[in-house]
Amino acid sequence: MPVHASQNGTLESVRELIKSLGEAKIPHAVDVVVAPMALHLAYVQQNIAGEGVQVAAQNVSATGAGAYTGEISAEALVDFGLRWVIVGHSERRALYGESEQVVAQKVDAALSKGLQVIACIGEQLEDRKAGRTMEVLKAQLEAIVTGTKGRWNKLVLAYEPVWAIGTGVVASPQEAQDTHREIRGWLAGAVDAKTAQGIRVIYGGSVKADNCKDLISQPDIDGFLVGGASLVPGQFLAIIEAAGLRSQL
Ligand code: PGA
Repeated sequence: MPVHASQNGTLESVRELIKSLGEAKIPHAVDVVVAPMALHLAYVQQNIAGEGVQVAAQNVSATGAGAYTGEISAEALVDFGLRWVIVGHSERRALYGESEQVVAQKVDAALSKGLQVIACIGEQLEDRKAGRTMEVLKAQLEAIVTGTKGRWNKLVLAYEPVWAIGTGVVASPQEAQDTHREIRGWLAGAVDAKTAQGIRVIYGGSVKADNCKDLISQPDIDGFLVGGASLVPGQFLAIIEAAGLRSQL
């Protein structure tokens, strides 16, 4: 269950969050992956305590090591001791011009170096209103299939409707479930049934303590990608606890 702080928080606030996470009881079946901004990675990596908590970068370069000023390559993340990275977050796509081709390259670059990838997909509000949700998601999924090249055991898909990210408007459990089911259905055809069943498809977009239980009780929702609520210790501990219910369903 990944949480990330976008470009939010100070080193001091990260210290507080890490402390409260260290005191949390993490259910055995839950993987917690914390993705702070790049400048906080070292602190979090060195201070995170407890089994079941890992650290991710929020982004990775599409290119390898070399003359790529300002980029952080997959090699560098691995060398640093990280095992996870988020790719294709909607803010990367919308604000930094990440095309499907770039997302495919990043997925490939990260998997090639042995990182586990949380690959994000999601439609805009106008797409949903116009009934184009699956059309948009299919184009995004096709790029991820291209980048993955069969290495599905290292990939988690995060379905994050863009209209739900940071807005307080969460997808209803049924809306999220229906879309997760369609994503699996598409994967069954485009890849194979075993991959479609086995892959973790997590939901992101205004997940909070008071909506996470209803979401996780849906059969095709395997976990969460949490933004804003991850900055509030009481919230994200409740979400971690709810994620533990998944294995009991
Ligand atoms: P949110 O963010 O939980 O604040 O909606 C989700 C995200 O940015 O992935």
